[in-house]
Amino acid sequence: MNKQTFAFLLSILVPSLCWPVTPQDRQRLDQFAQKVIAKSQKLAGYPVNQDTSLDGFYAWYVKSKLYRASMNNVGNPRNQSPYSINTHSFENEVVDYFAKLYGYKEDDYWGFVTGSGTDGNNHGIYYGRKFLQAKSTVPPIIYVSEEAHYSIKKLADVQNSELRLIKATDMGQMDLDDFEKQLDPTRPALVVIALGTTFKGAIDDQAAIRKVLAEKHKGPEYIHLDAALFGGYLPYLGGEAAGLVNQQLQKFDSIAVSGHKFFGFDEPLGIFITTKEAFGNLNPFHVPYLNDAVPTITCSRSALDPLKFWWKLHSTRMDQFQVISTNLLSNADYLLEKLQAAGIKAWKNPYSNTIFFERPPGEILGKYDLAPDESPVFGKLAHFIIMPHVNKKLMNGFIKDMASWKAQAPTELQ
Ligand SMILES: Cc1ncc(COP(=O)(O)O)c(C=O)c1O
Repeated sequence: MNKQTFAFLLSILVPSLCWPVTPQDRQRLDQFAQKVIAKSQKLAGYPVNQDTSLDGFYAWYVKSKLYRASMNNVGNPRNQSPYSINTHSFENEVVDYFAKLYGYKEDDYWGFVTGSGTDGNNHGIYYGRKFLQAKSTVPPIIYVSEEAHYSIKKLADVQNSELRLIKATDMGQMDLDDFEKQLDPTRPALVVIALGTTFKGAIDDQAAIRKVLAEKHKGPEYIHLDAALFGGYLPYLGGEAAGLVNQQLQKFDSIAVSGHKFFGFDEPLGIFITTKEAFGNLNPFHVPYLNDAVPTITCSRSALDPLKFWWKLHSTRMDQFQVISTNLLSNADYLLEKLQAAGIKAWKNPYSNTIFFERPPGEILGKYDLAPDESPVFGKLAHFIIMPHVNKKLMNGFIKDMASWKAQAPTELQ
């Protein structure tokens, strides 16, 4: 078969590889983009900030033509990597910012920009296991509340670790009596604390968990904080709220936060930080061509994500983050109050931007992309998450839809 026949046959078998992007293709892409952007502004059931505000970043990116290079943040960002086209220096500045925000002692932390909250949780469990292995030959047990994010269950499985699911209270916090009952004092404990839980936005009681550990455990312990969403806005609220994510106050070892949830990015990313002590127990597989043992589970890592994070931190003042965070909670109070006033059974946890309520019919769920759940106590539920793009207009439209559904719904038998 000659080259031309081969190319012709290939173009029939895999046409998308063989033809340029046509005007029709572009039209299809444009329609797709418009549809996504329009829908994004109505999204209220998932904790993703649709106010990405990256226009300035992309204008610079296109102008700089940086996309012509294939950068990669493989390796330890604190060790000069022989793969020099990376954004490690920007990544370190992002980590420094958050280490300070989360109250880590200066020079007693290590971290990186993750691919997601789950990636951060994976590292929390991995670093926790290594830390505990260095202290005991007895395998650890992972403790987490049944209402914590499902990634913890999956990751415990991936990392072949025994998991104990602790009951949750009706409002979604880890049940401390059950924690005490299930805590095995003979084995190292890796406790994953939820701050807050995915569906009800509950914050586990860190002081009470530490008290149970101090009184009933005493063995090697590692605490990982899954602060995927709340870790974004709590530090900017100051006072007690900021104290909940302060490492020196709460004595957690590591923390994982999603970047795309509170901060608003056009793709998933996040941040993971742990102490130097935990960092010091990693498997010392030395990779000579990367100048180090590679401390991340993933090898190749995005170099663009740290750059976007750096841009976002540089283009948003502290007082702007404070205003956005305060608004989240005042809007959450507003929505709760209005739903209850319309006769809808609705609940909210302290410091939470998540309102959960009796589940409306499918049209309302679909209109706002609301996530459903079920509870033995509250029955069929849905939740509405106040993110920075959620404005009064969106909330008022939702309140109106809920109120007219409630007005038409048959009254319950008492
Ligand atoms: C509490 C909690 N932890 C972890 C995650 C997972 O985060 P990501 O989607 O960034 O992997 C979520 C996602 O909703 C979450 O709510």
